[in-house]
Amino acid sequence: MPVRMAVPKETVSGERRVALDPTMVERFAKLGVEILVEKGAGLSAFFADDLYAKTSRLVDHQTLCTEADVVFKVQGPTLEEVELLRDGSILLAVLTPHRNLDVVKRLRDKNITSFAMELIPRISRAQSMDVLSSQAAVAGYFVALRAAVLASGFFPMLTTAAGTIRPSKVVIVGAGVAGLQAIATCRRLGAMVEAYDIRPAARQEIESLGAKMIDTGVNAAAEGGYARELTAEERQKQADVLAKHIAAANAVITTAAIPGRAAPKIVTAAMVDNMKRGAVIIDLAAESGGNCELTRPGETYEHNGVLLDGPLNIPSNFPAPASEMYAKNLFNFLSPMIKDGNLNLDWNDEVIAKSALTHGGKIVHEPTSKLVG
Ligand code: NAI
Repeated sequence: MPVRMAVPKETVSGERRVALDPTMVERFAKLGVEILVEKGAGLSAFFADDLYAKTSRLVDHQTLCTEADVVFKVQGPTLEEVELLRDGSILLAVLTPHRNLDVVKRLRDKNITSFAMELIPRISRAQSMDVLSSQAAVAGYFVALRAAVLASGFFPMLTTAAGTIRPSKVVIVGAGVAGLQAIATCRRLGAMVEAYDIRPAARQEIESLGAKMIDTGVNAAAEGGYARELTAEERQKQADVLAKHIAAANAVITTAAIPGRAAPKIVTAAMVDNMKRGAVIIDLAAESGGNCELTRPGETYEHNGVLLDGPLNIPSNFPAPASEMYAKNLFNFLSPMIKDGNLNLDWNDEVIAKSALTHGGKIVHEPTSKLVG
């Protein structure tokens, strides 16, 4: 019997993405698997049920959980949702285990094999499966547009009969996947962009997009291409240089992150106080506490004439492309192990082994296992 794969409707408030779009459902179906889609699962991402119905069976949530061997989700399940999953089934989602230990324990106890998509190792072979990158690209694009709309001036230089308007100055802090996409988008909109990252390797990427690198003399490249936390002295050095650039900016976009830690505080309250009236800070890191001391996650408010914006679940603002990219990541991850409609997980593959969270009644991701104790 072919493996049964299922796509439930997301339940987290404000989540508009869906784990598989109709195109990827069709591609899975071509591999001989059976697909169940919960009625209405794709509606908030603009994918109507009839688009799915061509290659899948539309069912209610209860039926889906009772019959599914493999469940695809965007957000991790609630405890109630885990209860409904079949013992021994397979779950793929962004599980953020350190924040959801109760869910992890229940997945273990129900002998569910769960893959946390954000744990996929960032090796070249796995780039096409990297949900962090695909969703960060969406987020970077969004924050650039948001800055352009919320800033008090125009991003491009406008030459009109009524005179010439100067372009905006944008400072982007953190030039990883999201930051680089924000730089590219702000440049396309005509802004003058300066960007900063503590990994020296970022310089070439920043400059290749037509932006100027802000050099603070701090180098904090760490393992796996990521950044490490700064010492107090390095933080001060960084702050001294950044303050001047931020004071001159019409918009600041912050995207700095350190894996597994709260977002580093880079923009201080004093820096905000020195900004121009009408300037804006879009803090993409709001979800993990924010890069600006004054960010209130989920809120937009004014402080001394500066607009502070801390958007949450940013990729959900572009639910159709974000879902399509996420679905492609899932397909690239799982499809190589499907033959004639059957799924055989290859535990010798490091991508599979490293992204597994629970398997065989155990928590197989060591850092999470330690947290559970
Ligand atoms: P991230 O979301 O963890 O961090 C965003 C950026 O913030 C990073 O560039 C980091 O250096 C920077 N940052 C951290 N602390 C900072 C501070 N105090 N001040 C300024 N900037 C700070 O990183 P992301 O975007 O997920 O990836 C980072 C890097 O990982 C990439 O640029 C790349 O080198 C590597 N990568 C490799 C992939 C692969 O080979 N499959 C896929 C994606 C990324």
